[in-house]
Amino acid sequence: MKSHDNIPVKLLDWYKYNKQEMPWRDDKNIYHIWLSEIMLQQTQIATVIPYYTKWLKKLPTIHAVANATEDEVLKLWEGLGYYSRALNFHNACKTIIKLYDGNVPKEKNEFLALKGVGKYIDAAVRSIGYNDVVPTIDGNVNRVISRLLCLNKPPQKEYNKIYDFLINIIDFEYPGDFNQAMMDLGRNICKPKNPSCKRCPISSNCLAYGRGKIEEYP
Ligand code: ADE
Repeated sequence: MKSHDNIPVKLLDWYKYNKQEMPWRDDKNIYHIWLSEIMLQQTQIATVIPYYTKWLKKLPTIHAVANATEDEVLKLWEGLGYYSRALNFHNACKTIIKLYDGNVPKEKNEFLALKGVGKYIDAAVRSIGYNDVVPTIDGNVNRVISRLLCLNKPPQKEYNKIYDFLINIIDFEYPGDFNQAMMDLGRNICKPKNPSCKRCPISSNCLAYGRGKIEEYP
């Protein structure tokens, strides 16, 4: 088994020089981060950007969301699809005003209890916004790790293995950047078809690449 200790350094270096332009990158406003992650959960980045910008112009704070009507919220979401995301977010913002004085709760169980906040959103928001050391696992990350470790089962069945692997290598100082780098790597380099292994910063750590079997995984 190869050592994976050098993955975070290589990944963060790659991220630094290949950072994609996104309006929420390097923005530590927790409301902005949360909104971006909700929008990104089922939608591609290029589609999300204009919606994200327009939403924040109309609803610049959690207070503004909580005070908006359902119709206003749905109108801003129109065309993005998966409308329950908007309704749940609206509901969660109202709860935050009512129970937490307008502040996004830092306590894990309180944040997770909000409507529309699941494991992924929780991990993304707290790692990017609060530097909490918790890995985000989405489809892109699943593919990267399945290839890195040659996991034979579908990623959903390997969740614990993938989580344990990531929690051992995640960067303690920059967990949010580490997570975003993993997701960017999966989307732009470790693609489902024709992955760009020659440009991958961690190909020398990758078991599937080493065996010449990259497209057999996951
Ligand atoms: N996919 C979902 N959220 C993301 C983020 N913050 N960075 C990169 N890819 C993502």
